Amino acid sequence: MNITKSVRKKFKELFNEEPLLIRSPGRVNLIGEHTDYNMGFVLPAAIDKAIYFAIAPRSDDQCKLYAADMNDNYQFSVDNLQFSKKQWPNYLMGVVDQLNKRGYKTKGFNCVFGGDIPLGAGLSSSAALEAGLAFALNDIFNLGIDKLSLVKLSQKAENEFVGVNCGIMDQYINIFGERRNALRIDCRSLEYEYFPFDYKNISIVLFNTNVSRSLASSEYNQRRRECSEGVEKIKKEFPQIQSLRDVSIDLLTGYKNKLNPVIYRRCKYVVEENSRLLNACDALKVHDLKTFGSLMYQTHEGLSKDFEVSCKELDFLVELTKDNPEVYGSRMMGGGFGGCTINLIENNAIETVSKTITKMYKQKFNLEAKTYVTNISGGTSIVMIKENATI
Ligand code: GLA
Repeated sequence: MNITKSVRKKFKELFNEEPLLIRSPGRVNLIGEHTDYNMGFVLPAAIDKAIYFAIAPRSDDQCKLYAADMNDNYQFSVDNLQFSKKQWPNYLMGVVDQLNKRGYKTKGFNCVFGGDIPLGAGLSSSAALEAGLAFALNDIFNLGIDKLSLVKLSQKAENEFVGVNCGIMDQYINIFGERRNALRIDCRSLEYEYFPFDYKNISIVLFNTNVSRSLASSEYNQRRRECSEGVEKIKKEFPQIQSLRDVSIDLLTGYKNKLNPVIYRRCKYVVEENSRLLNACDALKVHDLKTFGSLMYQTHEGLSKDFEVSCKELDFLVELTKDNPEVYGSRMMGGGFGGCTINLIENNAIETVSKTITKMYKQKFNLEAKTYVTNISGGTSIVMIKENATI
Protein backbone atom coordinates (compact mmCIF):
# COMPACT_ATOMS: atom_id res chain seq x y z
CA MET A 1 0.00 0.00 0.00
CA ASN A 2 1.45 3.42 -0.84
CA ILE A 3 1.93 6.01 1.91
CA THR A 4 -1.02 8.22 0.86
CA LYS A 5 -3.33 5.25 1.18
CA SER A 6 -1.92 4.11 4.49
CA VAL A 7 -2.19 7.57 6.16
CA ARG A 8 -5.74 7.89 4.81
CA LYS A 9 -6.66 4.44 6.15
CA LYS A 10 -5.20 5.25 9.57
CA PHE A 11 -7.00 8.59 9.61
CA LYS A 12 -10.34 6.93 8.88
CA GLU A 13 -9.72 4.35 11.60
CA LEU A 14 -8.90 7.03 14.17
CA PHE A 15 -11.36 9.76 13.24
CA ASN A 16 -14.01 8.05 11.14
CA GLU A 17 -14.21 10.73 8.44
CA GLU A 18 -12.73 11.54 5.03
CA PRO A 19 -9.52 13.62 5.19
CA LEU A 20 -7.87 16.01 2.76
CA LEU A 21 -4.61 14.43 1.51
CA ILE A 22 -1.45 16.49 1.04
CA ARG A 23 1.99 15.54 -0.25
CA SER A 24 4.92 17.65 0.99
CA PRO A 25 8.35 16.85 -0.52
CA GLY A 26 11.94 16.78 0.72
CA ARG A 27 14.60 18.61 -1.28
CA VAL A 28 18.10 18.50 -2.71
CA ASN A 29 20.25 21.55 -3.35
CA LEU A 30 22.33 21.37 -6.52
CA ILE A 31 24.60 24.29 -5.68
CA GLY A 32 24.53 27.43 -3.50
CA GLU A 33 25.17 26.30 0.07
CA HIS A 34 25.07 28.58 3.13
CA THR A 35 24.17 31.44 0.81
CA ASP A 36 20.45 31.80 1.63
CA TYR A 37 20.92 33.59 4.96
CA ASN A 38 23.57 35.76 3.29
CA MET A 39 20.96 37.07 0.84
CA GLY A 40 22.58 35.12 -2.01
CA PHE A 41 21.38 32.51 -4.52
CA VAL A 42 20.46 28.85 -4.10
CA LEU A 43 19.47 26.15 -6.63
CA PRO A 44 17.33 23.51 -4.90
CA ALA A 45 14.81 21.02 -6.31
CA ALA A 46 11.93 19.14 -4.64
CA ILE A 47 12.35 15.35 -4.72
CA ASP A 48 10.26 12.21 -4.87
CA LYS A 49 10.56 11.56 -1.14
CA ALA A 50 7.85 13.22 0.87
CA ILE A 51 5.68 13.49 3.95
CA TYR A 52 1.98 12.76 3.40
CA PHE A 53 -0.71 14.36 5.55
CA ALA A 54 -4.31 13.24 6.05
CA ILE A 55 -6.09 16.15 7.71
CA ALA A 56 -9.56 17.53 8.50
CA PRO A 57 -10.85 20.49 10.53
CA ARG A 58 -12.53 20.06 13.93
CA SER A 59 -15.22 22.27 15.40
CA ASP A 60 -13.42 22.73 18.74
CA ASP A 61 -9.92 24.10 19.52
CA GLN A 62 -8.19 20.70 19.84
CA CYS A 63 -5.44 19.50 17.49
CA LYS A 64 -4.99 15.73 17.44
CA LEU A 65 -1.81 14.52 15.73
CA TYR A 66 -0.69 11.00 14.93
CA ALA A 67 2.85 10.40 13.59
CA ALA A 68 2.46 7.10 11.74
CA ASP A 69 6.19 6.35 11.35
CA MET A 70 6.78 6.72 15.08
CA ASN A 71 3.44 5.31 16.16
CA ASP A 72 3.20 8.30 18.45
CA ASN A 73 0.52 10.87 19.09
CA TYR A 74 0.17 14.34 20.53
CA GLN A 75 -2.70 16.63 21.38
CA PHE A 76 -2.75 20.38 21.98
CA SER A 77 -5.12 23.33 21.89
CA VAL A 78 -4.69 26.07 19.26
CA ASP A 79 -4.88 28.57 22.10
CA ASN A 80 -2.27 26.94 24.32
CA LEU A 81 0.98 26.03 22.61
CA GLN A 82 3.73 24.62 24.81
CA PHE A 83 7.16 23.53 23.53
CA SER A 84 7.25 19.71 23.59
CA LYS A 85 10.22 17.55 24.65
CA LYS A 86 9.16 15.10 21.94
CA GLN A 87 10.48 17.55 19.31
CA TRP A 88 8.38 16.44 16.30
CA PRO A 89 5.17 18.22 17.49
CA ASN A 90 7.12 21.51 17.67
CA TYR A 91 7.46 21.75 13.88
CA LEU A 92 3.66 21.56 13.63
CA MET A 93 2.82 23.71 16.65
CA GLY A 94 5.27 26.31 15.29
CA VAL A 95 3.02 26.70 12.24
CA VAL A 96 -0.13 27.13 14.35
CA ASP A 97 1.81 29.65 16.46
CA GLN A 98 2.68 31.69 13.34
CA LEU A 99 -0.94 31.64 12.16
CA ASN A 100 -2.05 32.86 15.59
CA LYS A 101 0.58 35.61 15.58
CA ARG A 102 -0.60 36.79 12.17
CA GLY A 103 -4.21 36.95 13.35
CA TYR A 104 -5.56 33.94 11.42
CA LYS A 105 -8.13 32.38 13.66
CA THR A 106 -8.35 28.65 13.06
CA LYS A 107 -10.17 25.86 14.89
CA GLY A 108 -8.50 22.60 15.83
CA PHE A 109 -7.82 19.73 13.41
CA ASN A 110 -7.21 16.00 13.21
CA CYS A 111 -4.05 14.95 11.41
CA VAL A 112 -2.20 11.73 10.54
CA PHE A 113 1.14 11.96 8.74
CA GLY A 114 3.94 9.68 7.58
CA GLY A 115 6.52 9.56 4.82
CA ASP A 116 9.76 8.32 3.34
CA ILE A 117 12.17 11.25 3.76
CA PRO A 118 15.08 9.76 5.73
CA LEU A 119 15.43 11.68 9.01
CA GLY A 120 18.67 13.50 9.81
CA ALA A 121 19.92 13.03 6.23
CA GLY A 122 19.73 16.73 5.38
CA LEU A 123 16.78 16.34 2.99
CA SER A 124 14.62 18.84 4.89
CA SER A 125 12.02 16.66 6.50
CA SER A 126 11.46 19.49 9.00
CA ALA A 127 10.60 22.02 6.27
CA ALA A 128 8.31 19.37 4.74
CA LEU A 129 6.44 19.13 8.05
CA GLU A 130 6.16 22.89 8.49
CA ALA A 131 5.31 23.94 4.94
CA GLY A 132 3.08 20.88 4.42
CA LEU A 133 0.98 21.74 7.47
CA ALA A 134 0.87 25.45 6.57
CA PHE A 135 -0.39 24.52 3.09
CA ALA A 136 -2.96 22.11 4.56
CA LEU A 137 -4.34 24.55 7.16
CA ASN A 138 -4.53 27.28 4.52
CA ASP A 139 -6.74 24.95 2.50
CA ILE A 140 -9.01 23.43 5.15
CA PHE A 141 -9.67 26.77 6.88
CA ASN A 142 -9.81 28.76 3.66
CA LEU A 143 -7.30 31.31 4.93
CA GLY A 144 -6.39 32.69 1.49
CA ILE A 145 -2.66 32.95 2.27
CA ASP A 146 -0.46 33.36 -0.83
CA LYS A 147 2.40 30.94 -1.54
CA LEU A 148 5.27 33.23 -0.58
CA SER A 149 3.62 34.06 2.75
CA LEU A 150 3.24 30.30 3.43
CA VAL A 151 7.00 29.98 2.84
CA LYS A 152 7.83 32.85 5.17
CA LEU A 153 5.58 31.71 7.99
CA SER A 154 6.93 28.15 7.77
CA GLN A 155 10.50 29.44 8.03
CA LYS A 156 9.50 31.58 11.02
CA ALA A 157 7.89 28.51 12.63
CA GLU A 158 11.32 26.86 12.61
CA ASN A 159 13.18 30.03 13.71
CA GLU A 160 10.85 30.97 16.53
CA PHE A 161 9.18 27.81 17.85
CA VAL A 162 11.72 25.09 17.05
CA GLY A 163 14.62 27.48 17.68
CA VAL A 164 16.74 26.76 14.57
CA ASN A 165 17.85 29.89 12.78
CA CYS A 166 17.55 28.42 9.26
CA GLY A 167 17.40 30.41 6.02
CA ILE A 168 14.49 30.41 3.59
CA MET A 169 15.65 27.83 1.01
CA ASP A 170 14.03 24.65 2.34
CA GLN A 171 10.53 26.02 2.90
CA TYR A 172 10.69 27.95 -0.39
CA ILE A 173 11.49 24.93 -2.55
CA ASN A 174 8.93 22.85 -0.66
CA ILE A 175 6.14 25.18 -1.78
CA PHE A 176 7.45 26.31 -5.20
CA GLY A 177 9.09 23.09 -6.47
CA GLU A 178 8.22 21.94 -10.03
CA ARG A 179 8.71 18.55 -11.69
CA ARG A 180 11.87 18.30 -13.79
CA ASN A 181 13.05 21.76 -12.70
CA ALA A 182 15.53 23.19 -10.27
CA LEU A 183 14.63 26.57 -8.86
CA ARG A 184 17.10 29.42 -8.64
CA ILE A 185 16.02 31.55 -5.72
CA ASP A 186 17.38 35.01 -5.17
CA CYS A 187 17.21 35.10 -1.39
CA ARG A 188 17.47 38.90 -1.33
CA SER A 189 14.61 39.83 -3.68
CA LEU A 190 12.84 36.47 -3.15
CA GLU A 191 12.35 36.23 -6.90
CA TYR A 192 12.87 32.89 -8.58
CA GLU A 193 13.53 31.31 -11.94
CA TYR A 194 13.04 27.69 -13.01
CA PHE A 195 15.98 25.85 -14.60
CA PRO A 196 15.02 22.63 -16.40
CA PHE A 197 16.99 19.72 -14.99
CA ASP A 198 15.85 16.65 -16.85
CA TYR A 199 18.50 14.39 -18.32
CA LYS A 200 17.95 10.91 -19.71
CA ASN A 201 21.47 9.68 -19.01
CA ILE A 202 22.29 11.42 -15.71
CA SER A 203 20.72 11.15 -12.25
CA ILE A 204 20.97 12.97 -8.97
CA VAL A 205 22.29 10.39 -6.53
CA LEU A 206 22.68 10.87 -2.78
CA PHE A 207 25.06 8.97 -0.52
CA ASN A 208 24.09 9.20 3.13
CA THR A 209 27.03 9.32 5.57
CA ASN A 210 24.74 8.13 8.32
CA VAL A 211 26.66 10.44 10.61
CA SER A 212 24.60 12.12 13.30
CA ARG A 213 24.47 15.85 12.68
CA SER A 214 24.71 16.74 16.37
CA LEU A 215 27.04 19.69 15.76
CA ALA A 216 24.86 20.99 13.01
CA SER A 217 22.64 23.54 14.74
CA SER A 218 25.24 25.12 17.05
CA GLU A 219 27.86 25.37 14.27
CA TYR A 220 25.18 26.59 11.85
CA ASN A 221 24.28 29.50 14.12
CA GLN A 222 27.99 30.16 14.65
CA ARG A 223 28.56 30.43 10.84
CA ARG A 224 25.67 32.88 10.62
CA ARG A 225 27.30 35.03 13.31
CA GLU A 226 30.69 34.89 11.58
CA CYS A 227 29.19 36.01 8.28
CA SER A 228 27.39 38.95 9.94
CA GLU A 229 30.56 39.87 11.79
CA GLY A 230 32.31 40.15 8.42
CA VAL A 231 29.49 42.30 7.03
CA GLU A 232 29.51 44.61 10.09
CA LYS A 233 33.26 45.21 9.72
CA ILE A 234 33.12 45.89 5.97
CA LYS A 235 30.07 48.12 6.44
CA LYS A 236 32.08 50.52 8.59
CA GLU A 237 34.08 51.51 5.52
CA PHE A 238 31.43 50.75 2.88
CA PRO A 239 28.05 51.69 4.38
CA GLN A 240 26.16 50.58 1.26
CA ILE A 241 27.03 46.90 2.02
CA GLN A 242 24.01 45.19 3.60
CA SER A 243 25.02 41.53 3.26
CA LEU A 244 27.71 39.32 1.72
CA ARG A 245 25.63 39.40 -1.45
CA ASP A 246 26.76 43.01 -1.94
CA VAL A 247 30.45 42.16 -1.51
CA SER A 248 32.60 41.47 -4.58
CA ILE A 249 35.69 39.28 -4.42
CA ASP A 250 37.86 42.31 -5.24
CA LEU A 251 36.40 44.33 -2.40
CA LEU A 252 36.90 41.41 -0.01
CA THR A 253 40.47 40.78 -1.12
CA GLY A 254 41.26 44.46 -0.57
CA TYR A 255 39.85 44.15 2.90
CA LYS A 256 41.64 40.89 3.80
CA ASN A 257 44.18 42.37 6.25
CA LYS A 258 41.49 44.12 8.25
CA LEU A 259 39.52 40.93 8.92
CA ASN A 260 40.26 38.14 11.33
CA PRO A 261 41.51 35.22 9.12
CA VAL A 262 38.64 32.92 10.07
CA ILE A 263 36.02 35.58 9.28
CA TYR A 264 37.81 36.31 6.01
CA ARG A 265 37.65 32.65 4.94
CA ARG A 266 33.96 32.39 5.82
CA CYS A 267 33.18 35.51 3.77
CA LYS A 268 35.40 34.43 0.89
CA TYR A 269 33.56 31.12 0.60
CA VAL A 270 30.13 32.82 0.48
CA VAL A 271 31.17 35.47 -2.05
CA GLU A 272 32.76 32.82 -4.29
CA GLU A 273 29.77 30.50 -3.94
CA ASN A 274 27.37 33.16 -5.20
CA SER A 275 29.40 33.69 -8.33
CA ARG A 276 29.89 29.91 -8.74
CA LEU A 277 26.15 29.46 -8.66
CA LEU A 278 25.61 32.01 -11.41
CA ASN A 279 28.24 30.25 -13.53
CA ALA A 280 26.58 26.90 -12.79
CA CYS A 281 23.23 28.26 -14.00
CA ASP A 282 24.88 29.49 -17.22
CA ALA A 283 26.29 25.98 -17.68
CA LEU A 284 22.83 24.47 -17.14
CA LYS A 285 21.35 26.70 -19.81
CA VAL A 286 23.64 25.05 -22.36
CA HIS A 287 23.35 21.59 -20.73
CA ASP A 288 27.04 21.58 -19.88
CA LEU A 289 26.96 19.20 -16.95
CA LYS A 290 30.72 18.71 -16.96
CA THR A 291 31.24 22.37 -16.06
CA PHE A 292 28.33 22.22 -13.63
CA GLY A 293 29.89 19.19 -11.94
CA SER A 294 33.33 20.74 -11.63
CA LEU A 295 31.72 23.74 -9.91
CA MET A 296 30.12 21.31 -7.44
CA TYR A 297 33.59 19.97 -6.58
CA GLN A 298 34.80 23.54 -6.03
CA THR A 299 31.84 24.18 -3.72
CA HIS A 300 32.81 21.15 -1.68
CA GLU A 301 36.39 22.36 -1.41
CA GLY A 302 35.17 25.75 -0.15
CA LEU A 303 32.71 24.23 2.33
CA SER A 304 35.39 21.91 3.64
CA LYS A 305 38.45 24.21 3.80
CA ASP A 306 37.10 27.76 4.11
CA PHE A 307 33.64 27.45 5.61
CA GLU A 308 34.60 24.33 7.61
CA VAL A 309 31.22 22.64 7.78
CA SER A 310 32.24 19.28 6.29
CA CYS A 311 33.51 16.21 8.17
CA LYS A 312 35.88 13.37 7.36
CA GLU A 313 33.06 11.08 6.25
CA LEU A 314 31.66 13.62 3.76
CA ASP A 315 35.16 14.45 2.47
CA PHE A 316 35.86 10.75 1.97
CA LEU A 317 32.66 10.16 -0.03
CA VAL A 318 33.42 13.12 -2.31
CA GLU A 319 37.06 12.09 -2.72
CA LEU A 320 36.05 8.57 -3.82
CA THR A 321 34.15 9.95 -6.82
CA LYS A 322 37.02 12.06 -8.13
CA ASP A 323 38.79 10.86 -11.28
CA ASN A 324 35.73 8.85 -12.22
CA PRO A 325 34.54 10.22 -15.58
CA GLU A 326 31.06 8.81 -15.00
CA VAL A 327 30.63 11.06 -11.96
CA TYR A 328 30.25 14.68 -13.14
CA GLY A 329 30.17 16.31 -9.73
CA SER A 330 29.95 15.59 -6.02
CA ARG A 331 29.76 17.68 -2.87
CA MET A 332 28.37 17.73 0.64
CA MET A 333 24.82 19.05 0.73
CA GLY A 334 22.89 21.14 3.26
CA GLY A 335 24.02 22.53 6.61
CA GLY A 336 26.93 20.08 6.99
CA PHE A 337 28.63 17.88 9.65
CA GLY A 338 26.90 14.80 8.25
CA GLY A 339 23.90 14.06 6.09
CA CYS A 340 24.35 13.30 2.38
CA THR A 341 26.62 14.08 -0.52
CA ILE A 342 24.87 15.00 -3.76
CA ASN A 343 26.31 13.49 -6.94
CA LEU A 344 25.60 13.73 -10.66
CA ILE A 345 26.22 10.25 -12.06
CA GLU A 346 25.68 8.60 -15.44
CA ASN A 347 22.78 6.19 -15.11
CA ASN A 348 24.66 3.17 -16.41
CA ALA A 349 27.38 3.69 -13.78
CA ILE A 350 25.19 4.24 -10.71
CA GLU A 351 25.20 0.63 -9.61
CA THR A 352 28.97 0.12 -9.84
CA VAL A 353 29.81 3.49 -8.31
CA SER A 354 27.39 2.91 -5.49
CA LYS A 355 28.73 -0.59 -4.79
CA THR A 356 32.34 0.60 -4.69
CA ILE A 357 31.53 3.59 -2.53
CA THR A 358 29.45 1.69 0.00
CA LYS A 359 32.13 -1.01 0.23
CA MET A 360 35.02 1.39 0.79
CA TYR A 361 33.00 3.54 3.17
CA LYS A 362 32.14 0.49 5.24
CA GLN A 363 35.80 -0.55 5.33
CA LYS A 364 36.94 2.88 6.41
CA PHE A 365 34.26 3.93 8.92
CA ASN A 366 32.31 0.76 9.57
CA LEU A 367 29.13 2.61 8.55
CA GLU A 368 26.52 2.00 5.84
CA ALA A 369 26.39 4.69 3.12
CA LYS A 370 22.85 4.30 1.88
CA THR A 371 22.27 5.33 -1.76
CA TYR A 372 19.18 7.26 -2.93
CA VAL A 373 18.57 7.86 -6.62
CA THR A 374 16.20 10.83 -6.71
CA ASN A 375 13.81 12.32 -9.24
CA ILE A 376 12.81 15.96 -9.21
CA SER A 377 9.18 16.28 -8.20
CA GLY A 378 6.60 19.02 -7.70
CA GLY A 379 6.17 21.10 -4.55
CA THR A 380 3.52 20.61 -1.88
CA SER A 381 0.12 19.80 -3.35
CA ILE A 382 -3.21 18.12 -2.74
CA VAL A 383 -3.32 14.41 -3.60
CA MET A 384 -6.44 13.14 -5.34
CA ILE A 385 -7.60 9.59 -4.77
CA LYS A 386 -10.10 8.10 -7.21
CA GLU A 387 -13.72 8.33 -6.01
CA ASN A 388 -14.21 4.57 -6.14
CA ALA A 389 -11.04 3.70 -4.21
CA THR A 390 -11.94 1.00 -1.72
CA ILE A 391 -10.00 2.30 1.26
C1 GLA B 1 20.05 24.16 6.09
C2 GLA B 1 19.14 25.38 6.25
C3 GLA B 1 19.03 26.17 4.93
C4 GLA B 1 20.41 26.47 4.36
C5 GLA B 1 21.29 25.21 4.34
C6 GLA B 1 22.71 25.50 3.94
O1 GLA B 1 19.46 23.23 5.20
O2 GLA B 1 17.85 24.97 6.65
O3 GLA B 1 18.29 27.35 5.15
O4 GLA B 1 21.03 27.51 5.05
O5 GLA B 1 21.32 24.57 5.60
O6 GLA B 1 22.75 25.92 2.61
